[in-house]
Amino acid sequence: MKVAVVGATGMVGEVMLKVLEERNFPISELLLVASERSVGKKLTYKNEEFTVIGLADAVAAQPDIAIFSAGGDTSLEWAPKFAEVGTTVIDNSSAWRMDPTKKLVVPEINASELTAEDKIIANPNCSTIQLVMALDPLHKKYQMRRVIVSTYQSVSGTGVKAVQQMENEAAGIEGEMAYPYPINRNALPHCDVFLDNGYTKEEMKLAREPQKILDDRTFSVTATAVRIPTAGGHSESVNVEFHNDFDLAEVRTILSETPGIIVQDDTANNSYPMPIYANGKDDVFVGRIRRDETQPNTLNMWIVADNLRKGAATNAVQIAEYLVENNLVSNTSETVS
Ligand SMILES: NC(=O)c1ccc[n+]([C@@H]2O[C@H](COP(=O)([O-])OP(=O)(O)OC[C@H]3O[C@@H](n4cnc5c(N)ncnc54)[C@H](OP(=O)(O)O)[C@@H]3O)[C@@H](O)[C@H]2O)c1
Repeated sequence: MKVAVVGATGMVGEVMLKVLEERNFPISELLLVASERSVGKKLTYKNEEFTVIGLADAVAAQPDIAIFSAGGDTSLEWAPKFAEVGTTVIDNSSAWRMDPTKKLVVPEINASELTAEDKIIANPNCSTIQLVMALDPLHKKYQMRRVIVSTYQSVSGTGVKAVQQMENEAAGIEGEMAYPYPINRNALPHCDVFLDNGYTKEEMKLAREPQKILDDRTFSVTATAVRIPTAGGHSESVNVEFHNDFDLAEVRTILSETPGIIVQDDTANNSYPMPIYANGKDDVFVGRIRRDETQPNTLNMWIVADNLRKGAATNAVQIAEYLVENNLVSNTSETVS
């Protein structure tokens, strides 16, 4: 595959290169793409040095696959230009997620929806991916009615500038602010922008994207998204009301048997998911599994994942792998490892 990584100099882009390398994705030619500010900059992949190019040059090279992690505006403008020259775009921004003509894919759940005609494929929001990974198998068994999720999100979810703000504040250095307030030793109930309904855009992503991924509008999700001063992953407190009753041991078995999920739930030994352990891993960790004693058929759990891996890069690369394995990209004959 001739592969373009758009946003290669960013927080997600850096992890994308790592994941492509670790999984030995079949790349015959690699194009590293960023804004005009970074053109000419050198990046390494598999110990080889690559020069960053601009978007127009990348389109002209007609890659088979372009993985975008460069913000919604860049995707809106440039993803269709790549699609026009035959490239399959996998997009990490929110630009196309709720477009009814585009698929929103978590491979473990709905990769089978993909066809060769899908030229722009959306990667869900990072906090949505880890949520639906745990909800999907439970929904199939007990049928969800309503989900209440509160997130504790890593600054790495905002990008390079936010991690720098946290590090500057911890070191007592004045610098550029990615957030309207200090983040170190703070909690901001403010992820992405506020909307007219009083929710943030992040909260509405959590409310809407799961219905599209699970292709089911019979359940609802309400969310509060909070930014906290961690860097390794997002955590979520999740309360799920089902139509049918469940058995806690069976819930643990279902989750343990779901590919991509690790149940870490041994409170007697203080074992539960935390961003410090999820950091750098591809799995979604679930723990603190317990019955909500205030109403029937309701479960509480705690879900943690590395937002840059399963929440972004790993999920996108898994989509690319599915496309290649199922001959859904144009130039499969060219594959070289
Ligand atoms: N961080 C996460 O956990 C996460 C998870 C899921 C999805 N995402 C999405 O992934 C995208 C990138 O996030 P990030 O956290 O990696 O941000 P980031 O660290 O700020 O990196 C942004 C990247 O986009 C590039 N870029 C910006 N404007 C561009 C333009 N006009 N043309 C070409 N490239 C441009 C930047 O290039 P320069 O270095 O040249 O500026 C950089 O490579 C966003 O859409 C975000 O919503 C992020």
